[in-house]
Amino acid sequence: MSRKTSRKAPGGKPVRAAPVRAANVQWGGRFAGGPAEAMERINASIRFDKRMWAQDIAGSLAHAAMLAAQGIVAKADAAAIAGGLDAIARDIAAGNFEFKVAMEDIHMNVEAALAERIGAPAGRLHTARSRNDQVATDMRLWVRDAIDGLDARLSGVQAALLDQAAAHAATVMPGFTHLQTAQPVTFGHHMLAYVEMFGRDRGRLADCRKRGNESPLGAGALAGTSFPIDRAMTAKALGFDRPMANSLDAVSDRDFALEFLAAAAILAVHCSRLAEELVIWSSQPFAFVRLSDAFTTGSSMMPQKRNPDAAELARGKAGRVLGAFTALAVVLKGLPLAYGKDMQEDKEPVFDAADTLDLVLAAMAGMIADLTVDAVAMRRVAEQGFPTATDLADWLVQALGIPFREAHHITGRIVRRAEERGVSLAELPLAEMQAIDQRIDERVHAVLTVEAALASRTSLGGTAPKRVKAAIAAARRRWLGKTKR
Ligand code: ARG
Repeated sequence: MSRKTSRKAPGGKPVRAAPVRAANVQWGGRFAGGPAEAMERINASIRFDKRMWAQDIAGSLAHAAMLAAQGIVAKADAAAIAGGLDAIARDIAAGNFEFKVAMEDIHMNVEAALAERIGAPAGRLHTARSRNDQVATDMRLWVRDAIDGLDARLSGVQAALLDQAAAHAATVMPGFTHLQTAQPVTFGHHMLAYVEMFGRDRGRLADCRKRGNESPLGAGALAGTSFPIDRAMTAKALGFDRPMANSLDAVSDRDFALEFLAAAAILAVHCSRLAEELVIWSSQPFAFVRLSDAFTTGSSMMPQKRNPDAAELARGKAGRVLGAFTALAVVLKGLPLAYGKDMQEDKEPVFDAADTLDLVLAAMAGMIADLTVDAVAMRRVAEQGFPTATDLADWLVQALGIPFREAHHITGRIVRRAEERGVSLAELPLAEMQAIDQRIDERVHAVLTVEAALASRTSLGGTAPKRVKAAIAAARRRWLGKTKR
């Protein structure tokens, strides 16, 4: 049926077919008509891929320079192309560029604008190139920049954590397992745990950057090209370590994006865990920390409220970052080689994950930097629940030579006794302990305070304030210093 004929829909209402539109000027040679309106909308990626304009133009500049160096296009044409691309870049940066849906994507928008601007030589830019190697190149460049941005954000979060750690290297905090008081730690030690987690996130992103830093440009549509191109030259010009080895892989691979999203997902999980702690710590029953006005909100009904919205959103947004990984993994899992238009679906998840984490990390850094610690409240909780019971058991082993299992049992009975008396272990009279095991002597009191427990945990990576101070200095050197990781 001709697209001009009107049809009857199942309900009997006449449906007007879309009018025939002009074929695309970039590839319309074998087409008599243009796309249907819905086709244009499902096909076009310009709405979101316009943000790769700088990468797209950088890729084209490198490609044009290579074509000229190899004698594939005339030097004068390459110079006109470069001048035109620079001018387009300036226009886009200044907001003076109209992105057209009819031109589908960023690649064709830039090329069409180049043709308008410089005329005939523009038609030579796409020699020995396909949008398939072009888009793969742009995306790799974009992800590389996104990684660099997130790395800077992460070092900002680490710096904020380290500042809090330094201020609270010796501030007592209840350490939990099962969210039950376990052993005392310092708040600084707790901050350092997240410095390590975010350090591994930086490492994962750096690995992804390194593995992904190869150039697809020159793979053509899928099979390479008959033109005498120099892929090493374009790779070098774009800051890639080398050209990708296989042309089919070069246009089909989206591991680099998937790996980025995997690292992003783990990072989002870490942000969410810290955010959850901030929510718990800032709640009234805990009141360990107070978040600043700048990172909390009030309630429209309850005047007393001070809600940790930024932390809750950091926690909640982990969902969309995990979703981004899942979305792209599912897009890719059934795709045969080489390029398929499905792959255009790599962009929105990657962009959204990068944007989301950029914002979450900015909020995290601000919340951490601003928070104030209530040392008295933390200390009060740290004293509850017999947090030095392990120290008592350890003392029975170390001072009296009692096997640990037996020491554990004796300590359990002493804890029960203290609980019945409503006192802490430090307050329980020696005679009460001796009634349970007469080998215990007055030296035991030296290990029963929270301070003693903290100070004794001097093992590598332990919470003794001395250790924490040294760990802060080491972490600053490792994560914030100029030295290479
Ligand atoms: N906009 C496309 C994408 O993002 C560019 C590549 C189009 N290639 C093609 N053969 N249709 O994947």
